[in-house]
Amino acid sequence: MPAVLITGAQWGDEGKGRATDLLGSRVDYVVKFNGGNNAGHTVVVGEEKYALHLLPSGILTPGVVPVIGNGVVVDLGVLQQELDALSSRGVDVSRLRVSANAHVITAYHRTLDKVTERFLGKRQIGTTGRGIGPAYADKINRVGIRIQDIFDESILRQKVEAALEFKNQVLVKIYNRRAIEADEVIADLLSFREMLEPMVCDTGLLLHRAMRDDRTVLFEAGQATMLDIDHGTYPFVTSSNATAGGASTGSGLPPHQLDRIIAVIKAYTTRVGAGPFPTELFDENGEHLAQVGHEYGTTTGRPRRCGWYDAPIARYAARINGVTDFVLTKLDVLSGLDTIPVCVAYDVNGVRHDEMPVNQSDFHHAKPVYEEFPGWSEDISGARRFEELPKNAQDYILALEAMSGSRISAIGVGPEREQVVVRHDLLG
Ligand code: IMP
Repeated sequence: MPAVLITGAQWGDEGKGRATDLLGSRVDYVVKFNGGNNAGHTVVVGEEKYALHLLPSGILTPGVVPVIGNGVVVDLGVLQQELDALSSRGVDVSRLRVSANAHVITAYHRTLDKVTERFLGKRQIGTTGRGIGPAYADKINRVGIRIQDIFDESILRQKVEAALEFKNQVLVKIYNRRAIEADEVIADLLSFREMLEPMVCDTGLLLHRAMRDDRTVLFEAGQATMLDIDHGTYPFVTSSNATAGGASTGSGLPPHQLDRIIAVIKAYTTRVGAGPFPTELFDENGEHLAQVGHEYGTTTGRPRRCGWYDAPIARYAARINGVTDFVLTKLDVLSGLDTIPVCVAYDVNGVRHDEMPVNQSDFHHAKPVYEEFPGWSEDISGARRFEELPKNAQDYILALEAMSGSRISAIGVGPEREQVVVRHDLLG
C-alpha cells in the first residue's frame, strides 16, 4: 500500500493529524504538496508540544523523510524558524528535502496579501495574511521566484527586479505604501542559500524512487476540499489544490499511483474566514460547539464559525477526491446534546438540492434541510471499539456513513492520540 493521501473534507481544521497518527510508524515519506505556512497543526509527542505551520508533520518522526513538494509556496524565514525551533529541542531535521521548483513567498507577497485584503473591505476573503495568494498569483502569472533561483544570483536579480517593477507601482500608486527595494529582497533570499543547499533536490525523482522501492509515502494536504481553488467555494478559498489531484501536480506523483484516499471530516462543521456556510449556527448550539470543541484557529487564533454536519458536502468531498475512507473527528464534542441535526439536502428558493448547487449564488442562499438524530449523554472518550459507543452514537455514525459516500473507518472520541475507535485499518 505505498501511496496514501490525507485531506480535509470540509473547510479545514478537521484534525488531519489524527489520521496521520493512525498510520503511525508505517510511513517512510511525508509529503506536503500544496499551501504554505497558512496551515497549522499542533503535534504532541510524549510530553512535548510542537506547533508547525509549514513543515510536514513527518519531521518529528525519526526515520521518516519529510518532503516539501513543488506545489508548496515556501516562506524561507518561517522554514528557518521552524527548523531552528525543532533543532534546539533535539529533533534531527537533516532529512528534510525541498523541491527546487517550489516557489518562495517574499516580503512583497506578505505586504500585498495584507493590503489587498484591506482594500477589499466588506468583500475580503479573510486570508491568513501570510502571502499565500500573491505568491501563487505570481506563479501562475509566470513572474514567481523559485527555490532554485536562489542558487543563480543573476537570474534571481532579474526576476525580483522584473516582479517589483510592476508591484511597486501598485503598492505606491494604488495602496499608498512605500516601494520595496529589490536589493533588500535579494539579500534576504540569498541569506537562506546555505540552509537550503543540503535539502534542495528533485523531489519528483526522490518520490519516484521511493515508490519503485515499495516505500510507503503519505501525502498530507494543507487546508481542505471546500477551500480548494478549483473545487471550493471560490473566491472564499485558498490559492492551491487541496484535493487529491493536487497531490499529483504538487509533487510529481503520477495520478494512478495514489492507493488510498483518506478524508478527515468533523462530526460537525467549522470554517475560518469569510464565505458561504449553509449549516452555520448563530445560537447557543454554535457556541456550545465552539467552546467544547475549542474552535480557535491554530495559525491566526481567530474563532471558527461552527455549524452542523453537512452531508452534501461530505458526498461532494467523497466524489471529488475519490475518498476510500473517512476519519470522523471530534464525535465527543456532540455528547450531551438532546438531538443532533444533520443537513441532508439544501432548499434553494423552494427547490430541493441533494447535491452541491451548480451556481455558487444558490449555495450562498441554500437553507439546510435537516434530519434530527437522538443524542447521547454518556462520556464516550473511553470507547475504543465501535460496540462500546452508546447506541445513539453508533446510529449517528451509521447514518452519516450511509449519506456521505464512503465508509467511516475511524472515529475520534477525545483529544488524546489513543482516543480513537478504529473500524477499518487505513492501510490494510
Ligand atoms: P489563505 O490561504 O491565507 O489565502 O486564506 C484563504 C482562506 O483559506 C481563508 O478563508 C482562510 O481562513 C482559509 N484557510 C487557510 N488556511 C487554513 C487552514 O489551515 N484552516 C482553515 N482555514 C484556512
